[in-house]
Amino acid sequence: MTEKTCILAIDQGTTSTRSIVFDREARELSLARREFRQHYPQPGWVEHDAEDIWTDVVDTAREAIEQAGGVGRIAGIGITNQRETVVIWDRATGKPIHRAIVWQDRRTTALCAKLKKEGREKDMRARTGLLLDPYFSGSKIAWILDHVDGARARAEKGELACGTIDSFLLWRLTDGKVHATDITNASRTALCNIHTLSWDDELLALFGVPRALLPEIRDNSGPFGETDPAIFGRPVAIGGMAGDQHAAMVGQACFAEGMAKSTYGTGCFMLTNTGETPVASQNRLLTTIGYRIGGKTTYALEGSIFVAGAAIKWLRDGLHLITHASQTDDMATRVEDSHGVYMVPGFVGLGAPHWDPNARGLICGLTLGSTQAHLARAALESVAFQTYDLAHAMTEDGAAKAQTLRIDGGMSANDWFCQFLANMLQVSVQRPKNLETTALGAAFLAGLATGIWKSLDDVAAIWAEDRIFEPKMDPALRKTMLAGWHDAVRRTLSSPA
Ligand code: G3P
Repeated sequence: MTEKTCILAIDQGTTSTRSIVFDREARELSLARREFRQHYPQPGWVEHDAEDIWTDVVDTAREAIEQAGGVGRIAGIGITNQRETVVIWDRATGKPIHRAIVWQDRRTTALCAKLKKEGREKDMRARTGLLLDPYFSGSKIAWILDHVDGARARAEKGELACGTIDSFLLWRLTDGKVHATDITNASRTALCNIHTLSWDDELLALFGVPRALLPEIRDNSGPFGETDPAIFGRPVAIGGMAGDQHAAMVGQACFAEGMAKSTYGTGCFMLTNTGETPVASQNRLLTTIGYRIGGKTTYALEGSIFVAGAAIKWLRDGLHLITHASQTDDMATRVEDSHGVYMVPGFVGLGAPHWDPNARGLICGLTLGSTQAHLARAALESVAFQTYDLAHAMTEDGAAKAQTLRIDGGMSANDWFCQFLANMLQVSVQRPKNLETTALGAAFLAGLATGIWKSLDDVAAIWAEDRIFEPKMDPALRKTMLAGWHDAVRRTLSSPA
C-alpha cells in the first residue's frame, strides 16, 4: 500500500490557479497551473466566472496528483485563495447566480462613500479592523442581492449560499455537504467581528446581508470535510484553509511577534505578526487575523497594495512592452536610473495607506529620452516605493521596525527588484528557497491537521533561505527618489492632500 505522506495545496489566485503536491520535507513534487479569463464589464468592474475557477481547480488538482504518483499518496488537501472575492450560489443546484465580484472591483464605491458620510466607518472599523472601501466583500454581496432578480427574497428564505472562493470550493469539493469558511477569509468580508470571531449582527445590518446566506466560520487547520469520491477516485480529507496572504504568513513561518512578510502576486500584501493582540492602526492599515490554529488566534497588521505583479502584467498584455515578466530584471539593470520617470499603478484606485477608490494610474516625468527600459524600471520601482509606504505606516503605528522582511511571490524572483526593495526599506530582504510560499502555507495547515507535521516549530524548521539582500544606497539619492514618488502619488489622488 502506498504511504500517505504528501499534501495537495490548491492556490486559487486572482489570475491563475495552481495545484502543488508537497512531500513531508516540503519539496515540491508536482505543479499544475492555469491562467483564467478576467471579465471587465465596465470600467472599474472586475468579475470571474466561478465555473471557470471550479474547472481549473479540478483539472490542476487531478494533474498534480497524477504527476506526484496518484491519490494514494495524498494525506490531505489545503486550500488557499484570493480573498474578498464573493460568489453567491443556489443551494439546490450549486450554480452561481452571478459572476463572482472580484476584490479589485470598484462598483460599490458610491455605497461605501454614502455609509462613510453617514459616519458609519468608526464603528465598522472597531469591529472589523477594516475600512469602508469597496475592496471588502460586504458591499459586493449587497450589490448582487440588489441586482439579481429575486435574489434578496431567496437569500432570506435560505435558498442561496454565499462565500469567498475558499467556501465555494469547499462546497463543491464536498458535493454541497459543507458550507464553511475559515476565520482569515471571514475577517476580510467586513461582516465578521475580529474580536468575537463571528458574524456580527450590526455589520450584517449595515450592509443588508441576511445571516442565512453565510457559512460557518472555522479555524485554519482542522477537519473541513472530505472530497466527493467522484472527484479524485476516493475521498480525501480537507485539513486546511486560509486566505492567500495569511497562508503566505504561515508558509514564511512568521510565527513570532514582529516578524513580517510581503507577498508579490497580483497585488502586494505586507503582514506583520502582532501576536495575540489586535493592533488598531492610526495610519489606515488593516487589523486582520494572521491565523488561528489549535484555538489560538494570532493577529496581524496588514498593508494592502492593489497592483504589484499586475503592473508587470500590464506592461506585457496592455502595452506589449515585454513578452515575459522576467525581462524586466534585465531591462531595469540596463539603465542607470528611471530617468525621472515615475509610474503610480492606481489602475483600480489606491489601497493602503491612501484608500482612494477614485484614484487612477499615472506615468509622469516622460521626456524624449525615456525608453521602454525606463518604463519597466519605473513599474518595478513603484512596487518597492509602495512597500516603503506600508513599512513606514507600520512603524508609525508603533510596530517595531522589522530588521528583516521575508518576501515571496512572482516578483521576488527578480534580483534587481529585491535589491531595490532593500535599498528603499533600509532592511534586509530575505528570499526563501521556495517561492510558492502561499501554497506551502496551505499545505502546512493541512499537514498539521493530518499529522504530517506536528507543530509550528516543525514547520519553522523546514523554512529555508535562498538569498538575503542587504540595503546599499546613498541616503541622499534614496531621499530624492522617495520625494519624487510622493509627488507623483499626490497627483494621482482624486482629492490631492
Ligand atoms: O486581497 C486580495 C488578495 O488576496 C489577492 O492576492 O495573490 O491574487 O495578489 P493575489
